[in-house]
Amino acid sequence: MIILLKYIKIKTVCIKTMEKYIINGGKALQGEINVAGAKNLALKIFPATILCAGSCLIDNVPEIEDMQRLIELMQDLGAEINKEKHGQYTINTQNINKTELRPDLVKQLRASIMLAGPMLAKFGQITLAHPGGCVIGQRPIDLFLEGFQKLGAQMIDNGSSYTLKAEKLKGAKIVLPKISVTVTENLIMAASLATGTTEIKNAAMEPEIIALAEFLNTQGAKIKGAGTPNITIEGVASLKECDFTIIPDRIETGTFTLLGLITNSQIHVNNCNPSHNENLLYSLKKAGAKLEIGKDYIKTQPSQLKATNIITHEYPGFPTDLQAPFTVLMTQAQGLSLIHETIFEARLFYTDILNQMGANIIMCDPHRVVVNGPTQLHGRKVVSPDLRAGMALVLAALIAKGTTNIENIYQINRGYEDIVSRLQTINADIKQINE
Ligand code: EPU
Repeated sequence: MIILLKYIKIKTVCIKTMEKYIINGGKALQGEINVAGAKNLALKIFPATILCAGSCLIDNVPEIEDMQRLIELMQDLGAEINKEKHGQYTINTQNINKTELRPDLVKQLRASIMLAGPMLAKFGQITLAHPGGCVIGQRPIDLFLEGFQKLGAQMIDNGSSYTLKAEKLKGAKIVLPKISVTVTENLIMAASLATGTTEIKNAAMEPEIIALAEFLNTQGAKIKGAGTPNITIEGVASLKECDFTIIPDRIETGTFTLLGLITNSQIHVNNCNPSHNENLLYSLKKAGAKLEIGKDYIKTQPSQLKATNIITHEYPGFPTDLQAPFTVLMTQAQGLSLIHETIFEARLFYTDILNQMGANIIMCDPHRVVVNGPTQLHGRKVVSPDLRAGMALVLAALIAKGTTNIENIYQINRGYEDIVSRLQTINADIKQINE
């Protein structure tokens, strides 16, 4: 209950009432939709450029609000970031002349913490407030602080912010008590310029971590084992510049595949890497989904769906970021499905909004809901609670009878590039209005 009250309070504070989506549901969708570059890689590659000497050209960058906030944060530190064309940026961090992150921006973006490791390794200091981002649980930063301290950093608690300092980081053995994506990535980056060898045990294994290690290794880092639970980093004195292309966003890939199935439509999801979505594809097969899967595309077909249980898990398990759109799919499947969210403790409260739209979902506890399907959803006024739940509401609205108004769409635009026009190209009846 305490978590729920906190969630509602924060949710109310961050509502932007001026912009909303108007969606008329029930239209069959058809056509091709391209997957953008991975948000959760681009948000790490930009900070990683701090480690290198020179300019990097980064391609396939998603044009989303979170990237804009990160660019503002880095420019405030003194980084030169130029947009060459849509999705392509040059970054030069040689003139960084500040070590304190702007607190107003840090509070809008969980990924602001990705600047901590590179800043500490390169400039020996970083001051940052507790980062914000999606309100999906407590989201502490204890494991970052512990990890940096193991690498030899001194931590000062300033009350409303932390300062981390280290003349030179030193390699260490770090056993993570919990698997964390951004902690693993931060420690890889910090250890790349430390003296000696760092071992990370119980590391996260996401494809974005492999891609980040590839980026750093191309610059001269010595990282082995990325994509496994045991990562070894031999520190080097400096890293050189390099160009890089962001891999496709596996969460968008999954979301668009689920959209095709939810709306019983033929959608061709392009520019993706289905091998990064194996767990979702396994669950969809179990649910009876008809899919054609190629090397870089997924095609959906109208399918008779049956209830399927999922349990979210660190990669390569079922991604927590696809839990909400999968739950919407289960509102259209025959029978009872158990959705078990294990990563975040406040990531199921959006199911209350789906119930207001006509779903039949029972919350067992903050980590588990049972969906009783199929049910007809109805359009209504809703408020997007966070990025992934917000996108799930867009999917629900696209099959609902009547019109849905979705407010607080900043939360959706944080992670999905130009979603209105991309959905319009596959025949969705969606528009954005600014009041
Ligand atoms: N945790 C701690 N202490 C820490 C850090 C994390 O207890 O210091 C806990 C978290 O509270 C959570 C668990 O560890 O219970 C795992 O969270 P993790 O740290 O892996 O999450 P994250 O790194 O903050 C990233 C993605 C999330 C995605 C999760 C899980 C980025 C910027 N964010 O978050 O993406 O849900 O991994 O895969 O990479 C999203 O894109 O919508 C999103 C929330």
